[in-house]
Order: sequence, then structure tokens, then C-alpha cells
Amino acid sequence: MSLKDKLNTALASREQRLIRRRLPDPTADDHLVDFSTNDYLSLSQSSDLRKRFLRKLNDSPYVLGSGGSRLLVNGHAHAALEARLAAFFRAPAALLFNSGFDANVGFFSSVPQPGDVLVYDEHIHASVHDGMRASRVDARVSFRHNSVDSLRSSLDQLIATRPGLQTGECSAFVAVETLYSMDGTLAPLLQIVEIVESLLPLGNGYVVVDEAHSTGIYGPQGRGLVAAYGLEDRVFARLHTFGKALAGTGAVLLITPLVRDYLLNYARSLIYTTSLSYANIIAADCSFDLLEEREAEKLSRKLLDLCTYFLATLRREVAVHRISPALLFLPPHLAIPRPETSSDPSTLPTPIIPVLTPHPRPLSAHLRVRGLNARPITWPTVPKGADRIRVCLHARNTREDVDRLVSGMIEWAESWETAGNSGRSDVGVERVGVVQAKL
Ligand SMILES: Cc1ncc(COP(=O)(O)O)c(C=O)c1O
Repeated sequence: MSLKDKLNTALASREQRLIRRRLPDPTADDHLVDFSTNDYLSLSQSSDLRKRFLRKLNDSPYVLGSGGSRLLVNGHAHAALEARLAAFFRAPAALLFNSGFDANVGFFSSVPQPGDVLVYDEHIHASVHDGMRASRVDARVSFRHNSVDSLRSSLDQLIATRPGLQTGECSAFVAVETLYSMDGTLAPLLQIVEIVESLLPLGNGYVVVDEAHSTGIYGPQGRGLVAAYGLEDRVFARLHTFGKALAGTGAVLLITPLVRDYLLNYARSLIYTTSLSYANIIAADCSFDLLEEREAEKLSRKLLDLCTYFLATLRREVAVHRISPALLFLPPHLAIPRPETSSDPSTLPTPIIPVLTPHPRPLSAHLRVRGLNARPITWPTVPKGADRIRVCLHARNTREDVDRLVSGMIEWAESWETAGNSGRSDVGVERVGVVQAKL
């Protein structure tokens, strides 16, 4: 078979299994209410942020390009933003990367040493997997999503069989996210840190926390879930990305000066790439102005209130209309209201709310016709049987938008039941959705 035939066959197979990825039409979403993007604080629409950005751009001696890798040209704006972020996040050092993807690949491919072990939540992001695969570590063990018992037993087993972990000669890296993008679950971060500290009392257990989806939303000034728990000194590394709630691009790793130095020497995704342009750095700097001035906190409060409202409305309407749980249901952590506890940030609402259904594409199509953009997520992005509409809420969404979303869902479920639909969900339905890469 020629290369062309092989590529076409692979794509045709995906087409047949309804998992072929496609880029959405760039204009198709323009008129829709956004229940899909990671722009949680709606900063991409903020006239305040836009004005600040244009003003700073205008005042900056450098705007375009960056001239090369950080190792070749260390732009002052880049160095200044790193210093600012280290102070803002109460970290000993900071290192910018062109993306969160690059940061995870750079960190996990280089920092763990031969003989070390990598322990990761089973839902960890693809970029961590890519980094781990490129690392010199053979022992890579997953634990059940957010399960502290599963983490404990994975670590117990590794420690029992690897004397180096007992003597401190080898290290265990534990990779977690704070807010998981497919399930909208928050990690029990304090318990994770406590387990690692208690099972590895010599200090050779290193928790690495990816705050891609929680940056700007949780913690004082939007400093993330680690800051919300006050765990800054007890985690080894933190990743904050600028591309989601901060409406920018790029990422920062918060680490020790030693790890920073090591990454500068060994992280290929940092060394062999042109650093972010000045304009990107200025944009990120302006977003951090909003965080520092507590503007983002106001947006986040509004956002999290809306999340609570959406859940309450959906639960109520599903009950009132007696919608079959075979058609629409919430995952167990959202199915019943949980009290929020101020001392436990993991009980806070989240802007990512999966609504499970065996028919995510028809449901998404139905909503789309009503001007609402909530994307279907199907296998292989989520496990088989866990297909869903993933609702992402934003500070700019209104209660009216949310009411329309809920009534669109109920209307679809009722008409689906009335039509006596069963079997394959995509038959006869226009393909409006594509399988989403883990976003
Ligand atoms: C948990 C997580 N980590 C890292 C990344 C990568 O970040 P970036 O979009 O900046 O490459 C993403 C986004 O896709 C993510 O969801």
C-alpha cells in the first residue's frame, strides 16, 4: 500500500467509527452563545484588557517577534514577566514556555532521572503522557482518577519493591491536574500532598500540579488551587497556562532555581524553539494586571455563581419533566448538590460541567439550531459509555443563556423520547460535531 493509501485508509476508518477529527468552520460559531471555549473569564471579550494591551503595546520599544530561542535572546519583557510571576505566585523561580504543552513535555521528559518513578492520575493531559514517554523513566504507573486510596496503593507498591525510594536515592513524581477538563472535577490536592509526604518522608516524593484550567478562577487573585490550599511550599512544580482563562498564549512553570537551571539545559521544548513574541508577553502581562488588581476575582465569583445556577436549574428541570436518566444525566460528583465548604476548595463549583448522554451529537445539533454552542465529546477522548455534552460556562454567559441551554436540553430529550429513538445516535443527524482533542 502506498503512503497515500495508508493515510486515506486510517482516515476512512476513523470516519466509519465516527471519530474523525475536523477543524470547525471558522465562522460557524460566530453567532452562537459560547458554552464551549476555555475562555472561562471571558477575558478575550474584555474591553478593559484590550485597552490595556494596546496601551502597553504602544508604549513598548519591542512588539514584534522575539528574535530566537530564550537561550539566544533573553527579551527583557520575558525576563521581567518571569520575575513578576515568581513573586505573584509565591514561587522561588519561574520559567516561561511557549505553551502548556511544551512545558509539560519539557518538564516530564527531562527532570525525572533514570530509576525514578512516575505516578499519574489516569485522566492526566496528553502533554504529560508525551513528556513521560520521552523521559528516561520506565516505571510509569497510573492511579484512579482523583482517588487518594488508589494513589496510596500505587505508591505503597512502588516503595515496597524499589529500595531506592526507601533510601531517598530515587524519586517519585506524582502528576496531577487541579481542574480536569473532561469531567470538571477538582483534585483533592491537600490529601494528595499529605499522602506523598507521609509515604516518602525523606522528601523524595514530588507533586507536580497542572493548573491549566484553574488559573485565574480559583485561589486568592486567581492564583490557582495550590494557592487556595496554601500549598505553595509543598508542591514541587506548578504549571499555569495563559491560553485559557487568561485569553493569551504561553505558560509558566513555577519551580526551584535549580530545576529552572536544569530545564534551561535539558528541556528540548524550551531550548530548540523561538520564544514567544513580545506581543504575546505583553498580552499575558496585562492579564496578570487584572489578576493582581483582583478584577479576575470578581469575574470568577460571577462565573462560579452561574455554575451553581446552571446545575440547580438542570437538576430541577430534569426532575420536573421526568427525563429518563438513560438520556440525560449528571456524573456522580454533580448529581446531588454538595455543600460548599470554605475550608475545602475542592467543593467549589467548576465552570466545566459534563452532561452525559448516549446521543451527544444529536443533542449538540439540536442546541446549535437554537443558537447554543455546546460540544459533543465522544470516545476516544472520553471512555466508551461516557459520551457527553461538555458545557463550559463563562463570566459573560447570562442566566438567560443558561435557561435557554437547559430548556434546549429538556426539549431535545422529550422529543427524542416521543420519537421513540433508540440505537445508533448518529443515524440521520447532520454531523455538526467533531471528536474534540482533549482541550
Ligand atoms: C491540563 C492541560 N495541561 C496542559 C495543556 C496545554 O496547554 P496549552 O494549551 O498552553 O498548550 C492543556 C490544554 O490543552 C490542558 O488542558
